[in-house]
Amino acid sequence: MQHTIVMTGASRGIGRVAAEHILRRSPDVHLLVVARGPSGARSVAELGAGGHAVSHVPADLGSLESVRSAATGIRGRLERGELPPLRGFVGNAGVQYTNALTETPDGFEATFAVNVLANHLFVRLLQDRFTAPARIVITASDTHFGDFKHNMGMVPGPSWKSPDVLARTGAFPGPGTAAGGRTAYSTSKLAVIHLVHEYARRLPAGIDAVAYNPGFVPGTGLARDAGPLTRFAMRCVLPMTALKPFATGRRAAGRRLADVVLGTTRAPSGSYVDRDRVDRSSRESYDKRREGELWEAAERLTAAYTAGADPSRTT
Ligand SMILES: NC(=O)c1ccc[n+]([C@@H]2O[C@H](COP(=O)([O-])OP(=O)(O)OC[C@H]3O[C@@H](n4cnc5c(N)ncnc54)[C@H](OP(=O)(O)O)[C@@H]3O)[C@@H](O)[C@H]2O)c1
Repeated sequence: MQHTIVMTGASRGIGRVAAEHILRRSPDVHLLVVARGPSGARSVAELGAGGHAVSHVPADLGSLESVRSAATGIRGRLERGELPPLRGFVGNAGVQYTNALTETPDGFEATFAVNVLANHLFVRLLQDRFTAPARIVITASDTHFGDFKHNMGMVPGPSWKSPDVLARTGAFPGPGTAAGGRTAYSTSKLAVIHLVHEYARRLPAGIDAVAYNPGFVPGTGLARDAGPLTRFAMRCVLPMTALKPFATGRRAAGRRLADVVLGTTRAPSGSYVDRDRVDRSSRESYDKRREGELWEAAERLTAAYTAGADPSRTT
């Protein structure tokens, strides 16, 4: 049956490969790509080349007003029957900065805004437009573990604080350094897993939520904000490590994301898919008190953008 999947982060990297797989393997899908600037039109032209059903809606995920506008537009198209029923949301877009001081127009720290709040606002604004069975997949990261085994010390581990502190610039020591930015990144990915647990508890039956960890994937655009040496290593040197078990190639990571989105990889709601199978995320990621606090903060921080859109509240 024809259905719609809304996807962020489909323009390049892991998401681009996943989008190709989704369209090739599921001909009934209308893929609605959420992308900024020229990325959207380009993605539609390239992904739709084989006659696949692809369209795009513009949004800069660093702006909650932009996310609200995109989600409202999608709701309208679904209500008017211009899109087939909504059965999926893939929150794959993500950023990693070399500082924790980058501020969005809404006054949030940019990593937290893009990696956490943008997904939350999409989920909440689209929640009452899903047709069950539906699946939400949010891309997480090995870095949320914060131990050497999971990222060989390349990214500092998460440093949890009150979500109201995490949402603002300067939440971590050395906020102007790459370590500060990467701590913001690993902490945002821990937050994503916390929220997936909350979605599994709070969303209506038949709307599943799953966190997907691709592993370390060298050669994508994720480190584009880093210095020239790191960028060179990510682009030229580290892709060679994809031959070793520690790292994952971009094509495998994208295929596995598509496997989770399409249900080829079976994963119950609230689960964490590590590459190609359900596994436990870090021990600290199951802290229910924290999860409740984060949900409450995410609701409050995005409230100005859900007002009037009438998402079915489940608080
Ligand atoms: N690479 C890794 O080692 C790794 C490991 C674990 C998890 N991940 C996660 O995997 C996901 C994909 O990352 P990747 O490695 O494929 O990186 P990538 O090549 O940089 O892709 C990131 C995607 O996010 C989009 N995006 C970023 N900021 C945006 C914004 N403000 N508005 C709209 N779209 C935005 C980008 O769009 P543009 O084309 O417009 O920039 C792009 O499509 C991310 O969530 C990342 O955290 C990556």
